[in-house]
Amino acid sequence: MNVQTIHLLVLSALACDAYKILLVFPYVSKSHAILGEGYVRNLLKAGHEVTYITPYPKDPAPNLRVIQIAQHALEEKMNSTFTIEKLMHKTHAGMEMFKLVKSFINTANDTVSNTEVQQLMLDPQTHFDVVIAEWMVTEIFSGFGKIFNCPFIWSSSMEAHSLILRLIDEIPHPAYSSNTLGLFEPPYNFFQRAINTLMEIGLKVAKWFSISIEEHIYKEGFAAAFKAKGLVQPSLEELRYSAALVLGNSHVSSGAPLTLPQNYKAIGGYHIDEQSKPLPKEFKNILDNSKHGVIYFSLGSVVSSKSMPAAIKTGLFEMFRSLKYTVIWKFEDDFQNIPDNVHVVKWAPQQSILAHPNCILFITHGGLLSTTETLHYGVPIIGIPIFGDQVMNIKKAVHKGIGLEVKLDLDTPKNLKAAINEVLSNQKYRDRVKELSLVYHDRPVTPGAELVHWVEHVVKTKGALHLRSQGLLVPLYQKLLLDIIFVSLLLFLGFVFFVKFMVTRYLKKKIDIRKKTL
Ligand SMILES: *[C@@H]1O[C@H](CO)[C@@H](O)[C@H](O)[C@H]1NC(C)=O
Ligand SMILES: *[C@@H]1O[C@H](CO)[C@@H](O)[C@H](O)[C@H]1NC(C)=O
Repeated sequence: MNVQTIHLLVLSALACDAYKILLVFPYVSKSHAILGEGYVRNLLKAGHEVTYITPYPKDPAPNLRVIQIAQHALEEKMNSTFTIEKLMHKTHAGMEMFKLVKSFINTANDTVSNTEVQQLMLDPQTHFDVVIAEWMVTEIFSGFGKIFNCPFIWSSSMEAHSLILRLIDEIPHPAYSSNTLGLFEPPYNFFQRAINTLMEIGLKVAKWFSISIEEHIYKEGFAAAFKAKGLVQPSLEELRYSAALVLGNSHVSSGAPLTLPQNYKAIGGYHIDEQSKPLPKEFKNILDNSKHGVIYFSLGSVVSSKSMPAAIKTGLFEMFRSLKYTVIWKFEDDFQNIPDNVHVVKWAPQQSILAHPNCILFITHGGLLSTTETLHYGVPIIGIPIFGDQVMNIKKAVHKGIGLEVKLDLDTPKNLKAAINEVLSNQKYRDRVKELSLVYHDRPVTPGAELVHWVEHVVKTKGALHLRSQGLLVPLYQKLLLDIIFVSLLLFLGFVFFVKFMVTRYLKKKIDIRKKTL
């Protein structure tokens, strides 16, 4: 036994109880992997034992078991869907979105039918204290909680939205809550409330279509395990609302002050390691030696800048050439005739760059990880949103005053230049991002510590039933008080008729008496 192992043993003995935790993060995409890694890092550090289902290879570590599942199909789908050219022209965007939703459901199927995952479920020795799974469109994974007879937690990669909140409580109120997919900032006018409401109905209808496929996959994927354990397999509908908690990758500093149930915990920022890694030498040189400051430009990992139309690429390089600032551009392609002040890199330590005091601007696609990091490090942004929640994230950032938005089209180089000049010459963006950075950091504990706390709380309290919202049990007509309004109306009308009847009768009697006396 070496010193390190002894050290670890002592540590885990000191850390109250070590729990056995199953993490299900099978979706292909760098940012989802980063979110999964955040759970692994924080939970291992707290002394727990983690089994991690992921599509990516991972170095072995003490207390970590990795189940790598092949996700080739989804990766190909993501690669072909998200080319900049396609997204710019929005060719069949709706159809592509529909296919993407289907591929999320297929990924869930690949995960539960994976041989190693099946063995895990069939093995009577396997025991978990809690299961944490990433929610992406489908609730198929809630079967894991039942199979391992332990509490179940959803991890949500976005700002809280109706599809996830209705699993633990109810949808955010369309009259005043901004939806992740929505287009408007409250307060809403009549038209905006109508659109919001229609969107909620649309989401409900869309879900209704996928329910039977999900039920089918869940039935097949978990059947053997339920049989082996001698349990009757409940329907997916019964398990759908059984989650103890939602851990959301959100925080009020980047999002909206939504009304949230007690078992939604906003832990946005947990993926950032509090001790940022030192910059590699070549990056450190660039940042240390820049006279006028560094602009960091990255459109993320889902969409490759390779697929950017040549005219925009050339235009951007020429525009950057005309700036006095240094530019670090994360760009996957080779390019000739690169300006002296531009450094093209295929990979960049994004967090460590943003952490450097000479980094003065972040040009981003506006993925939630990037907009979170911008607040963590207090750097203003210019957003070039490409798809999905990026549009809303950037809208929020602009609304909060920490940056500007530039559309992706042939005019991008020109518009981006104007935006860069505005953001860098006007102090208000820097001041505002520092203010929000304070809001972001000013929490009782770090988001990573909060993650660990709530996971342990769920295990200790056997599913945290005390946090569950009663809203889950109340049908819509009761929430809208329709029955009470209806009965009140009836009583009121009854009363009016009664009074009218009595008055008429009284008057009639009087008239009759008068007639008689006459
Ligand atoms: C998807 O794109 C990435 C990055 O461009 C590449 O490394 C990967 O091999 C591609 N995967 C497939 C299945 O085409
Ligand atoms: C789920 O995966 C299994 C095994 O790969 C496959 O046989 C089945 O057809 C899939 N189900 C659906 C609905 O795609």
